[in-house]
Amino acid sequence: MKDAGAEPFLSVRDLRVHFDTDDGLVKSVDGVSFDVRPGQTLGIVGESGSGKSVTSLGVMGLHRTARARISGEVWLDGEELIGADEDHVRTLRGRKMAMIFQDPLSAMHPYYTVGSQIVEAYRVHHDVSKKVARARAVEMLDRVGIPEPTKRVDSYPHEFSGGMRQRAMIAMSLVNNPELLIADEPTTALDVTVQAQILDLIRDLQKEFGSAVIMITHDLGVVAEMADEILVMYGGRCVERGTAESVFYEPQHPYTWGLLGSMPRIDREETDRLIPVKGSPPSLINVPDGCAFNPRCPYADLPKDNLTRTVRPDLRELTSGHFSACHLTQEERTRIWTEEIAPKL
Ligand SMILES: Nc1ncnc2c1ncn2[C@@H]1O[C@H](COP(=O)(O)OP(=O)(O)OP(=O)(O)O)[C@@H](O)[C@H]1O
Ligand code: SF4
Ligand SMILES: [Mg+2]
Repeated sequence: MKDAGAEPFLSVRDLRVHFDTDDGLVKSVDGVSFDVRPGQTLGIVGESGSGKSVTSLGVMGLHRTARARISGEVWLDGEELIGADEDHVRTLRGRKMAMIFQDPLSAMHPYYTVGSQIVEAYRVHHDVSKKVARARAVEMLDRVGIPEPTKRVDSYPHEFSGGMRQRAMIAMSLVNNPELLIADEPTTALDVTVQAQILDLIRDLQKEFGSAVIMITHDLGVVAEMADEILVMYGGRCVERGTAESVFYEPQHPYTWGLLGSMPRIDREETDRLIPVKGSPPSLINVPDGCAFNPRCPYADLPKDNLTRTVRPDLRELTSGHFSACHLTQEERTRIWTEEIAPKL
C-alpha cells in the first residue's frame, strides 16, 4: 500500500535536540526535517554518533530530561507533539507509534516475564481479557521466531539470549500494529535468517496496516532493500535526502560517496574499490565551522573563498525531492561523480 502522494503521517521540521552537559552543549540533532507517508519507509543512515537515535527518541517524545533542549516541530497524523501534554504523548506511544530500540534491555523490565510485558502493552490499548492478550503475546513471539512460544512467554528477559531479547522487544513494539514504527538498528544482533524474518514482519505490518516506517541502520544493504527514501546524517544534520533510487544511483554529497564506498562488494577486487571515508566523526560540542564534514572531505579545497571552512552549506533541492548540503557547484559534482566515484562503485 504505497502511496507517494498521500499526506505524510509524520512530518518533522527543523528538529533540534541539544543536551546541556558539564563539557558544554552537545548539539546531537541540529535542524533535521523529513516526512514519512503511510506505507512508506524512510531509511536513516550515518556513522555512529551522527544523531540517528536521538532523532528517533525526539520523535517519540522520549527526551523529557531537564538537560535536553528540544525545538522544532513533530507532526504525527496532524497533531503537533513538541510541547504537547506528556500523558497524551504517552498514549500515542504504543497506539499510534512504536519504536524498536537499539538496546533491547532498555525496553524490557527485568522483574516481569516477557509475556506479561507484551500482554500489558496490548491491554493498554485493547479492551480484552488477559487470556486473549496472552494468546496475542504467544502469536507475536511466534512471529518473531521465538521457539516454543507457549513456554517461552513465561520466561524473564534475563533467561533469553541477546538475540531472543531483541526479538521479544520487536514483538512488543509490533503488538499494537503501530501506524508509525521506528526501527533503530532492529537486526544488528540477529543472524541473517532471523534478520530476514524480522524485515518480512515489518513489511507485512506495512502492507496490512499501511504503517509508516523509519529504519535506522548501518547496513546499507537493508536500506537498499527496504527504503523508499533515504536521509543521510552527519554531525547531527541531514547532508543528503532523496528517493532511495536517487541517493543510491546518483548520490550528490561527498559523505554519501564515502558511505557507499564502504559497502562490501563481493564482485570486485579490493584494489578497485572506492576508499571509505577516512578520519572520525566530529565532536558535537565543537562542530567544525562551515561544513561539518570539511576536515575529512577530499574536495574541501575546491569551493572558492575557503567557503567550506567558513559557511555552513544549506540543504538545497537539486532535482525534485533530492536535497544535498554541499558547496560544490553542479559542474564540479557531476565531474567528480562521473570520473572518480561512479566507476569505482
Ligand atoms: N542524553 C544525552 N546527553 C548528552 N549527549 C547525548 C545524550 N544522548 C546522546 N548524546 C550524544 O548525541 C550524539 C548522537 O547520539 P546518537 O545516539 O543519536 O547517535 P547514533 O547516530 O544513534 O549512533 P549509533 O550508530 O552509534 O547508534 C552522540 O555524540 C551522543 O554521545
Ligand atoms: S561543502 Fe565542502 S567540505 Fe562539505 S562536503 Fe561539500 S565539498 Fe566537502
Ligand atoms: Mg543509535
